[in-house]
Amino acid sequence: MGEEFVYLDNAATTWPKPEQVYQAVDKTMRESCANPGRSSHQMSLKAERIVEEARQAVAQFFNAPSHKNVVFTLNCTDALNIILKGLIKPGDRVITGPYEHNSVMRPLRTLQRSGTSVAIAPGTSDFSIDLDRFRNLCKEGVDYAVVSHVSNVTGCIAPVREIADIVHEKGGILILDAAQSAGIIDIDMQLLGVDVIAAPGHKGLMGPMGVGILVLGDNLPVQPFREGGTGNKSQEDSQPKELPWLLEAGTANLPGIAGLLAGIRYIQSIGVNTIAEHEKELARRLVDGLKKLDGIRFYCDPGEPQTGVISFTLDFMDVSLTGTMLDQAFNIGVRTGLHCAPAAHKTIGTFPAGTVRVSFGYYNRSDHVDRLICSLYALAR
Ligand code: ALA
Repeated sequence: MGEEFVYLDNAATTWPKPEQVYQAVDKTMRESCANPGRSSHQMSLKAERIVEEARQAVAQFFNAPSHKNVVFTLNCTDALNIILKGLIKPGDRVITGPYEHNSVMRPLRTLQRSGTSVAIAPGTSDFSIDLDRFRNLCKEGVDYAVVSHVSNVTGCIAPVREIADIVHEKGGILILDAAQSAGIIDIDMQLLGVDVIAAPGHKGLMGPMGVGILVLGDNLPVQPFREGGTGNKSQEDSQPKELPWLLEAGTANLPGIAGLLAGIRYIQSIGVNTIAEHEKELARRLVDGLKKLDGIRFYCDPGEPQTGVISFTLDFMDVSLTGTMLDQAFNIGVRTGLHCAPAAHKTIGTFPAGTVRVSFGYYNRSDHVDRLICSLYALAR
């Protein structure tokens, strides 16, 4: 103890944030924190320009058909709820992946109770999706497929382009849960063939908490469950039919959106691939450094880590005690347990105890990895 706290929980939320993000939140709060899109005075217009600039930046970042197809939400869970509950009806058939987070599974189970059919494709021994089984499930019918791009448990990347081809061949719509990939992997929704993206602002995009993103393809028959003021068409008592207002009601989180915009600009200045390579390099260093630790078992690509997320278990210590010891004795923060993704843990065989998850961010350094390696060897003694 006495040393700096080493934060290795970036899959839960990235920290620290770029200096530009802190400044954007602070400056917006101080100088232009009027209600965006509501009033016609200069400060409200300034606030609205920030929202629109952020909308344009998100659209460009994901290659959305238009900035109007970008909806700001509360977080990724909110974005997923809006789209899943707004699109899927009783009688529809949904195919999902083997590593889904509760933000997908819980809404799907609720829909299932109202008559939606839900089928889950199995995983493979190398932590991917069994594409043959996925294809067979789609052959039986698919209206929607919902798949996480990167597992928050294993850090493995789903083969999205192949999945999109299979789903589209059968006339389905693909919804991508980009909770762990946005800002970490280049996502061009048109190149990847993704119809909808849900993403958080506070993870790979480096913004503050309280803002999420929903990016929609054109002409999706989505119905809003949240209705209210939009600052336009106020003479009507029904929700505007046009995006983004169809799905955005109530005052937006302006400081959060300003911070998200600054996060995206920062990522663009560094490059998504540079960030991804840095995080993977740290993950490689960790796996290499722990190879000789008796009783460790990794749950990641056996070849090499695909992202900066690494899950492991130790034969000699349970996962929650490992997390507590790392925190209390060594000043290192990781996340242990089920990571809100019991389905993923069932797939990889770590349910119900879960794993110790280390998740690197752009601000982690090799000496952080070395501190974790030394601490785990010390725990094994
Ligand atoms: N879903 C987030 C995580 O994986 C919070 O930790």
